[in-house]
Amino acid sequence: MSAFGPGLRAELPRRLAPLAPTGVLVVADERVLALHPLPLAAPRLALPGGEAAKTFAVFERVIDALVAERLDRGGVVVAFGGGALLDVAGFAAAAYLRGIRWIAVPTTLLAQVDAAHGGKTAIDHPAAKNLVGAFHPPSEVLCDTDLLRTLPPREVRSGLAEVVKHAVIGAPGLLDRAGRDEPATFVEEAAAVKLAIVARDPRERGERRLLNLGHTLGHALEQASGYSLSHGEAVALGLRAACRIAARHCGFREGAAVEAALDRCGLPSRGSLPFDALSGALAHDKKRAGGRLVWVLPVALGDVRLFDDVPESLVKECVP
Ligand SMILES: NC(=O)c1ccc[n+]([C@@H]2O[C@H](COP(=O)([O-])OP(=O)(O)OC[C@H]3O[C@@H](n4cnc5c(N)ncnc54)[C@H](O)[C@@H]3O)[C@@H](O)[C@H]2O)c1
Ligand SMILES: [Zn+2]
Repeated sequence: MSAFGPGLRAELPRRLAPLAPTGVLVVADERVLALHPLPLAAPRLALPGGEAAKTFAVFERVIDALVAERLDRGGVVVAFGGGALLDVAGFAAAAYLRGIRWIAVPTTLLAQVDAAHGGKTAIDHPAAKNLVGAFHPPSEVLCDTDLLRTLPPREVRSGLAEVVKHAVIGAPGLLDRAGRDEPATFVEEAAAVKLAIVARDPRERGERRLLNLGHTLGHALEQASGYSLSHGEAVALGLRAACRIAARHCGFREGAAVEAALDRCGLPSRGSLPFDALSGALAHDKKRAGGRLVWVLPVALGDVRLFDDVPESLVKECVP
């Protein structure tokens, strides 16, 4: 169940009640907790936010807190933070006692339109991002759009990259709104693109792979930059590359409109990383995919498809 709207976190106690939890642990991004009190009387574990949260060490801290609070199989984790915090808290909920329930209260634009939905949880390994994780959907996702008011501009831009991605995949009308309208007004519409696809393909056996648009190169850039590029900034560059590759590989004609939207959102247009720096991360993806790199490319706005026949030379020419 996903819900969207202003002030929704006030409903947390009411949404928890039907789950009849035997215990609750709030796992929160410490910065978010300082800005937005959570109206719930329950023990709290405050963690650093950002990618630094997605480590084995932080995962262990969450597990230790669950043990210390003696949560049993009827317990519930409430995760309060951005995509990184949700990923580690959700993964701890997936692993503890082979899986206890959790509620996601996403606090960034990126997490409200994307990361909080669909049940993927993970931590990073030095070899690659999101290498260790599980599918473990939360019982509820409460997207309180009031939380977005304190987001730093760079985080807003990051989220807008995923909004543009969803626009290209299945909501072309959003392309004109990203970077123009107040994000709170289109969060639900942007998330709906992912929710519809995930409902049809929860375990990413087919259609869900389309949501990786911009991410093949995006993840490689994010990792090769040592995470100095944010996830959304890297995805924006990956989207630009996908549009440019698609223009030459499968006749995509709307690349200029997509890149104009990314420009308007203040997202980067140059990665400043040599292609060779990306090939290690791309090779890892290739191995995971069974020997061939699979690219998600737009054929038209609202029509994206998988391609495993993109020549490396073309990719090299199209990396921004
Ligand atoms: N599980 C999935 O399906 C999925 C999908 C997309 C992305 N992700 C993951 O999400 C992560 C990125 O998440 P993110 O972009 O939400 O960023 P984040 O969780 O890294 O948070 C970014 C920063 O914003 C701060 N912050 C969060 N909410 C705030 C608020 N309301 N006000 C002020 N500051 C706030 C945090 O403290 C942090 O410093 C990546 O690790 C990515 O891999 C996961
Ligand atoms: Zn993403």
